[in-house]
This record gives sequence, structure tokens and C-alpha cells, in this order.
Amino acid sequence: MTASPTSFSLNAVPEIHFGAGRAASLADDVKAVSQGGKVLLVTDAALAALGLLAPIRRALEAGGATVSLYAEIAGEPKAYQIDDAAEAARSLEADAVIAVGGGSALDIGKVAAAIAPAGEEAMHYALAAHPLPASGIPSICVPTTAGTGSELSATNIFANAAGKKLWIWGQETKPRRVVLDPALTVSLPPQLTAWTGLDAFVHALESCTNRNATPGNTLTSHKALALIAGALETAVREPGNLQARGDLLLGSALAGIAIDNCGTAVAHNISHALAGLAPLHHGFATALGLEVTLAWSVEKDEGAFAAAARACGLCDATELPGWYSALMTRCGVARRLPEAFKAFDAAALAAEMRAPENQPMRKATLRQLEDADLDRFAAVVMALA
Ligand SMILES: [Fe+2]
Repeated sequence: MTASPTSFSLNAVPEIHFGAGRAASLADDVKAVSQGGKVLLVTDAALAALGLLAPIRRALEAGGATVSLYAEIAGEPKAYQIDDAAEAARSLEADAVIAVGGGSALDIGKVAAAIAPAGEEAMHYALAAHPLPASGIPSICVPTTAGTGSELSATNIFANAAGKKLWIWGQETKPRRVVLDPALTVSLPPQLTAWTGLDAFVHALESCTNRNATPGNTLTSHKALALIAGALETAVREPGNLQARGDLLLGSALAGIAIDNCGTAVAHNISHALAGLAPLHHGFATALGLEVTLAWSVEKDEGAFAAAARACGLCDATELPGWYSALMTRCGVARRLPEAFKAFDAAALAAEMRAPENQPMRKATLRQLEDADLDRFAAVVMALA
């Protein structure tokens, strides 16, 4: 008798609608997921200022929806913003919440919709302190960056009043629909395209090379790697290239599905640890985290990195670190930490990497991450300050 195949399960994926210009039909999505037409649009302030929101709002109103706006989001998401958005949804008696923007707006919109009817604050549910309400307000996610994959993930990251990063996890927070419209991502500047795209790349890579990887999920990770590896540099150099933007957006969404099932690893341990010291863009921090650890990871590869390398169009795992560093360079990523990091040393970062909330990512890393490895990586990263 031959050995039985590995057993695994895959989480539910929300309904996905893809297409350039697809956001113009959002009124139909509202009708499909809810009984009424009162919509709370949750978005970040920059997006509202960019004028990306006005056509969406007009299209919703032309389709019969009544639209209110919560656009008080800037930077990484905060607990009070979730509570304010939930309060806005309650006072509007919203039939649907549409989250439009990067990962921050999507996480805030998703969680606010999930918890609004129950009336408890976000902190009530943080770190799984209490179960999420069984039913919330139906939500729709419309990403305008190709990076976090938050639109397809049950994990939601935000900071409490002290600036500490916390999470709310639950299938209850997933949206009812995801609308992927590459036309909404063409105005993203090159630097943010690179940072967010590299975050998506790391999601795809870590989800198929960590201890939790499964054969069923690896299919998704590898397709995401192929799409992102093939499109990222073009999207950075030619912002209006809809084919590249579409590949990147789809790759980012698939990578979101992949981490929803299998999570991340050491690069995300480092990026979350860096964020524990001072504010830093998550995609940039994660891109650095992968660059300083990839050669070490590949050194003891037993096949997972070789398969990922082939998905990127390479021949072997040993090519991966050099290829990845060159991709970062071609995408214009400067390896320098902001001024605020000068106040910290390698020991401070190493302590954050050892913090309890960052241990799942350390433990998931395929190669045993010894204390000496962790200290060495912290020193390499902090030398960039
Ligand atoms: Fe990430």
C-alpha cells in the first residue's frame, strides 16, 4: 500500500469579480449582497483627495444607492478608526459597507461591517478575546493597491491606542464580494507600486515555503508568484499598463488567498518587529525582511524554494536571492530605514522579533530560526538606519 496523500483544507473564498472598469457596476453588487441601498463607503483620506472616489460614488448613486463616506484613514489602521466607521454604519443604518483603498481601508471597512450591529468596540474582539458576531453588515472590498491581499483574508491588523499592533481574525470579517478593477490601481505612484507589489510577492513565496504549506494552497501561491514576477517591474515603469496592473492585482489577490490558508514566515516576523519600533510602510519593511533572509532560507532548501523559483521563471532555488535583490533594485527600492530608526539598535529589533505576537511567523519558518540567526538578521537590518 502506498502512503496516503497529505491531508489539508482550504478556506472559503469570497465571490470575485475582475475587470478594468468593473467598479462602475458596484451598484449591482450592492443589490446582490443586501436588501437596501444605504451604503457606507470606507476609504482613506488620500484616495478621496485623489479624485478616485468621485466616479465610484456617482456610479453608486446613479444605480439608486444612497452613499455616506467615512474617509478618516491615514497610515496603518487604528482601533478607533474601526470604531468610528462602525458607528457611522450604525447611525446610517447601512445596508452595505464598501471598503475602497489599500490594506488599511479594507481591514477597517471589513471589521467595522462585521462588528457594527453588535455595538461592541474593536478591542472587545482583539486577539480573539471574544467571538465575532455571527452576522454583520454585508461588505464589498475594492482594492486600489496590489499588495496586502486583505480583500481575501480573514486576518485584520490594526494598532491600539498605545501603537501596539493587534489582530482580529475570523471568517466573519471576509467580504461578501471582491471587485478587482485594475483601472483603479494605475494612479498608484511607482514607489508604492513597488512596495505593495513586493509585499504580495513575499505573501506568495512565504505561503508555499513555510511549515504550514499544503499542496492545495501551493498551487495558488505559485500562480501568484508567476503573475507578480512577470508584471511588477512593468507596472512600476509603465503605470498605465493595464495588462501589468491586472496581473499584479490578480497575483496580489491570489497571494491573499494563499496567506489566508498558510500564513507567512520570517520576512513578516522582521517587518512586524520593525513596525514595533517606529512607523514604517509594511510592504517596504517586508521586502527588506525577505532580502536579508532569503539566501539563508535557500541554503537548506529541500525543494519548496526550488519549486517557487521555477514558478518565478528561474531554474533553481540558488538563483532566487540574487534575482529577488535585482528585482528590488530595478523597481527602485532604496535600502534605507527612516530617521526614527536611528534611535534603536539591533538588540531592540531582536527583542521585537522575539515578542510573543511575532512568534507564529518565527515558528512557521521552514529552516529552524535560532537565536543567533535572529540576532544576525537584526544587525543587518538595523545597519540600514
Ligand atoms: Fe505582508
